[in-house]
Amino acid sequence: MEAVILAAGKGTRMHSQLPKVLQTIGNKPMLAHVIDSAESAGARKIHIVVGNDGEQVKDQILNFASQIEVSWVLQKEQLGTAHAVLQAVPHFETKAQDDHILVLYGDVPLIKPDTLRQLLVSTRADAIGILTLITKNNKGLGRILRSESNDVIGIVEEKDASDLQKEIKEVNSGIMALPVARLESWLNRVENNNQQSEYYLTDIIALAVSEKVAINSVVVINEIEAQGVNDKSQLALVERHFQMTKCTQLLEEGVILKDPSRTDIRGKLSCGHDVEIDINTLFEGSVMLGDNVKIGPNAIIKDSSIGNGTQILPGTIIEGATIGEETILGPNARIRPGTIVGNNVKVGNFVETKQAILGEGTKANHLAYIGDAEIGKNCNIGAGTIFCNYDGANKHKTILGNNVFVGSNSVLVAPVKLEDDSFVAAGSAINTNVPEGHLAVGRAKQRTISGWKRPTKNTKS
Ligand code: UD1
Ligand code: MG
Repeated sequence: MEAVILAAGKGTRMHSQLPKVLQTIGNKPMLAHVIDSAESAGARKIHIVVGNDGEQVKDQILNFASQIEVSWVLQKEQLGTAHAVLQAVPHFETKAQDDHILVLYGDVPLIKPDTLRQLLVSTRADAIGILTLITKNNKGLGRILRSESNDVIGIVEEKDASDLQKEIKEVNSGIMALPVARLESWLNRVENNNQQSEYYLTDIIALAVSEKVAINSVVVINEIEAQGVNDKSQLALVERHFQMTKCTQLLEEGVILKDPSRTDIRGKLSCGHDVEIDINTLFEGSVMLGDNVKIGPNAIIKDSSIGNGTQILPGTIIEGATIGEETILGPNARIRPGTIVGNNVKVGNFVETKQAILGEGTKANHLAYIGDAEIGKNCNIGAGTIFCNYDGANKHKTILGNNVFVGSNSVLVAPVKLEDDSFVAAGSAINTNVPEGHLAVGRAKQRTISGWKRPTKNTKS
């Protein structure tokens, strides 16, 4: 089966510079969702009909590339949905006359592969299959016309419908399975003498019926699957449904979500057993949480893995990091890309890490910057310690052995090495290596002055 995805529409109602089909649901363009569904439903080639912003669409979609073969078809002028499908016809590969072409819309992103399969399986080789839905929210949608014997005999667009037809609650989702053998002949005969002067794909239904072709209609049970996205309200509606589906899946797998409406997953989140996720949490990209992991409120985690039994305390932001087991991060820690944290580590409030390895049992409990560092086991990084990794042009590395103690408010000027069991006195600026077991004091000596007079306030003249 080959699929055609229509994605050339301008999307005027979005009021955006971004092509409509690149608007995202769960951080992924709507068109990429539709491509995935088509692929999962069994499409082996997908033709995407794009307009003049096609290059931009193509560039973005390649970032979400699946394995499937995509052919990009240009529709220079948006003359209607039948005209759009017609542009793809010369690119069809199938020679089998009993194949169907699946037509999908780039702005109907939540359609499920199962629903598409159901449509394809139930539609005979010489018949047309259409997905319809029965809804009170029929505004703007094509109405399904049925005969007295309840057979589908046509689709009328709202703008062309009579008042009586506008009352019809069964509407066109836009998704169709069309027999490739007759498609081109139907498309060539569609006319544009309607309110919008467009070539409507929906007009092929009446043409097919006049040729005694059977129309198989499948009603979508879950309305949101067929929801088209034409403006920002519909985009927000679809996003909420998408998020709720993701959270429902997690709940079914046994994850505790304190409030499923206050956790968003923009990517893939996999969880071990007995994971607890508090409110206002955001997961992006690919995130893995081990067993018994607890995520506190207001945490943001992107492209990272968190080991068993680890706790992420409120307000912590983690990106591109690998975190060990039984570790505690936060509250309000910022763990940046390239951070690797071992087991039983503590990284506390207002500690920022980047390109840093923190060995097992190490603690950095308060207010520190740890960049380009390799820290061994059981070290203590005092409050206010800065790993001074940048000389204005290049980055340099700081290496700490095991059991190193860095007193508060110290600056470690890289490149520098603090060997096992070394000790840095509080307030030191360290720029030469400290050998094993040594104490380094790198600060001005304190002077205590006796007989000093406290200044007094000037009296006004
Ligand atoms: C279309 C259907 C309507 C259905 C509704 C479901 C037609 C005539 N009408 O109406 O029956 O109920 O979808 O959402 O088909 N597109 C192109 N080229 C064009 C025109 C459109 O690629 O020349 C693409 C759009 O980008 C969009 C899709 O086709 O992805 C549908 O077009 P849109 O203008 O949104 O049609 P609707 O008015 O929603
Ligand atoms: Mg639409």
